[in-house]
Amino acid sequence: MKVETLSAVKGDYNLKNYEETYATFDWKDVEKEFSWYETGRVNIAYEAIDRHALGGKADKIALYYRDADRQETYTFRQMMEFTNKAGNVLRNAANVVKGDRVFVFMPRSPELYFVVLGALKLGAIVGPLFEAFMEGAVRDRLEDSGAKVIVTTPQLLERVPVKELPLLETVIVVGDNVKEEGQIIDFKKRMAEASSELDIEWVDREDGSLLHYTSGSTGKPKGVLHVHNAMIQQYQTAKWVLDLKDDDIYWCTADPGWVTGTSYGIFGPWLNGVTNVIVGGRFKPETWYQTIQDLKVTVWYSAPTAFRMLMGAGDEIIKKYDLSSLRHILSVGEPLNPEVIRWGHKVFGLRIHDNWWMTETGAQLISNYPCMDIRPGSMGKPIPGVKAAIVDDQGNELPPLRMGNLAIKKGWPSMMRQIWRNPEKYESYFIGDWYVSGDSAYMDEDGYFWFQGRVDDVIMTSGERVGPFEVESKLVEHPAVAEAGVIGKPDPVRGEIIKAFIALRAGYQPSEELKEEIRQFVKTGLAAHAAPREIEFRDKLPKTRSGKIMRRVLKAWELDLPTGDLSTMED
Ligand code: WTA
Repeated sequence: MKVETLSAVKGDYNLKNYEETYATFDWKDVEKEFSWYETGRVNIAYEAIDRHALGGKADKIALYYRDADRQETYTFRQMMEFTNKAGNVLRNAANVVKGDRVFVFMPRSPELYFVVLGALKLGAIVGPLFEAFMEGAVRDRLEDSGAKVIVTTPQLLERVPVKELPLLETVIVVGDNVKEEGQIIDFKKRMAEASSELDIEWVDREDGSLLHYTSGSTGKPKGVLHVHNAMIQQYQTAKWVLDLKDDDIYWCTADPGWVTGTSYGIFGPWLNGVTNVIVGGRFKPETWYQTIQDLKVTVWYSAPTAFRMLMGAGDEIIKKYDLSSLRHILSVGEPLNPEVIRWGHKVFGLRIHDNWWMTETGAQLISNYPCMDIRPGSMGKPIPGVKAAIVDDQGNELPPLRMGNLAIKKGWPSMMRQIWRNPEKYESYFIGDWYVSGDSAYMDEDGYFWFQGRVDDVIMTSGERVGPFEVESKLVEHPAVAEAGVIGKPDPVRGEIIKAFIALRAGYQPSEELKEEIRQFVKTGLAAHAAPREIEFRDKLPKTRSGKIMRRVLKAWELDLPTGDLSTMED
């Protein structure tokens, strides 16, 4: 097997020597970085905002907010005041106390962040919801969690089935001229009246902070509960992986309805006192490049789908912008195709650094670091303080190059602590001391981890094991292919055959010739057995809001089966 290696670029990075740090690091050493280490008073929102506002960074810009209508800037002092006000509104108008579930269901806006942090300051558990959720998805989550309060906008209010949720006491609406009646509270009016000083609720490090609902391969979405203690790992990985430094302008493109948008859209940067960029509105290549240029973004964290869409939009657009402020680019959420890394290098002059983690893990676990050689297509190596391995179904560690379950030794600081009201489901993640991710992967002889697919997605065709990602990656290298999703389609002779769903790039027309050309391209570029026997062109592929192609939905289309829960699907 020929492995492409890009040797590390020299620079003054936070993580200087991966091997050395891996060998010596202890999470205990990070605890000293927080004010609770001295005071004993714990609250993740205090550490993210107030500590900086009170500790010499009061006038430093904490937040650049941008969307089509608003361009706003907030210092750490202002963030402290507004999150305090939001906390007071939740406490006084909605009687929120520690442990209550408070949901936010709104598009990105500064108010969303005030509410999330304000609720955390009260010790409440915050459940962020994608604005794209329809009524059923909202109901499932509020019902399952027993939510007491939801904060939403006038536009989304009709998707909140208030009458069907007996435990939901208060609906806070963020909009203009909201009429207060029944359970409805006018956020802006209350904010204007609220005090900017707040009695913070000090909590235990093991108290709940975030409740992220996420879908598994089956069944209803489940509530993944995180705790304040996660700050330790979010803080430290933002140093090692994002390489955040004091003068960085950092932009994470993820919505807080997804874990990347909280762990690294809120906590990673702000726990480090770094200036955070938040952009609302829909994806548009021009807006994105404009953001980087105007705000002089230095560190940029996004996802493969976004990079592929930018790639699809063409390199001509890029030339219109000055993107020279960028110094570090990262990707998460799905496999980062080597082709995308090559493209990134060509157009930005930088490598895109892949890293792996999950909603359940709360923070990054496997990563490529700027100080380490990159093997395009690999997720990298476990972060210091974390042991990763490939295990079989009994939890036995497998040797290098054997494919199996990607597993993590339990006990890392940001690990989920509960599946809400579902201890059985929680237990099902573990085999002995291993947290088993549900991803299949292998480790190479040098300790790099290579993603192969979700365990349930791996294709067996004529006795050959084929990871759909490998095929998809090859497919998107073809100039006509914008996106590809690959599934195993049951076949009486071969077990499964490979079927590819393909969305074409602009300017290409579907045809039988093109299908054959693409098939040959994979055959010659990857392997004959990996070439899709069937290809179907579609205008769009089903994707989650976080950009993952939903192979499960492709499979359901193919087999004429029910598609199951679609609440995390992009509109
Ligand atoms: C996938 C996202 C390949 C994986 C933070 C995992 C990845 C699931 C990568 C979690 C990566 C995440 N390469 N696959 N670098 N990162 N995944 O919960 O299947 O939305 O189990 O969290 O995304 O998705 P989630």
